[in-house]
Amino acid sequence: MTSSNSRLSLIDIERPGNPDVFAAEVRAAALEIITRYPAGQSRSALLPMLHLVQSEQGYVSADGIAFCADVLDLTKAQVAAVATFYTMYKRKPTGEYLVSVCTNTLCGLLGGDDIYRALSATLGVGMNQTAGNPDEAGSITLEHAECLAACDYAPVVTVNYEFFDNQTTESALGLVKDLQGGKRPQPNRGAPLCSFKEISRQIAGFVDDRPESRLAVATGQPTEVGVKLAQQKGENAPGYPVSHNAGSSADQPAAGSDQADAAAVAAHNTGARDGSSAHDAPLSTSASDPAAAASTEPAAHPDTVGGAKTDTGPDQGELFGKGD
Ligand code: FES
Repeated sequence: MTSSNSRLSLIDIERPGNPDVFAAEVRAAALEIITRYPAGQSRSALLPMLHLVQSEQGYVSADGIAFCADVLDLTKAQVAAVATFYTMYKRKPTGEYLVSVCTNTLCGLLGGDDIYRALSATLGVGMNQTAGNPDEAGSITLEHAECLAACDYAPVVTVNYEFFDNQTTESALGLVKDLQGGKRPQPNRGAPLCSFKEISRQIAGFVDDRPESRLAVATGQPTEVGVKLAQQKGENAPGYPVSHNAGSSADQPAAGSDQADAAAVAAHNTGARDGSSAHDAPLSTSASDPAAAASTEPAAHPDTVGGAKTDTGPDQGELFGKGD
């Protein structure tokens, strides 16, 4: 059986939606999400909340929109406007597996277009359509996607957002055959596969407590090539001062602090070098930029003084594992 799941279809705005179809546990989970945001800014919880209702029903239904509006004190129009903007919010029931084929330029040229065509023909479905009953095991919703941020493994396919790298038409066909047959192949990176509803709950911010989730592999060799080259050449990315006006209240100057404290805070925010982190993007332009070379501000790495590296934070070798 094939069910339509076109993103071009509109959410049923004629149906008002019933927020009470969601169990008390879902409402409790929604309240837990809200507590992650500052008081009075509960509307910021809308994105994870939409993933939460999707984890219950497999898509964002009229009921889900009504639920989010009810819990967050928004209008249903406001919720629908967000839910229909992002492609990760599905408007029709999604299968057990969402298979996404990258057909952006790099993947497309290296075979992504052929992979999508082959899967579409074999599954008998097009964009955002589902092969099988979405409520049954082995059902697959197919979509082609823009860059999945794994160009170094092109062409890539994801299943419920977990990566299957360097695919061919044959390997991708084998992948969906396994899924339809009840198998769950291990992704190249990331945690073992789960259902679309389960991954939606994780994206809403709830921990994957399956023991096998500890087996997740976060990265692979192609991703680390640039870092290792930088290590070999002794290169570091420039850091920048950490703002003491951002982050936790513990970073804020105490109320009533004197002018000297205020000046110190201002210095942090406008270019002082202490407190910087090698993890952070630079505020100043790199020394390799000719425009920066002409400026009065040297753009040396803050951890490096007179060519010697000081120990103000972890280097990239510590972050990624030396010698790996
Ligand atoms: S082009 Fe496919 S992952 Fe970037």
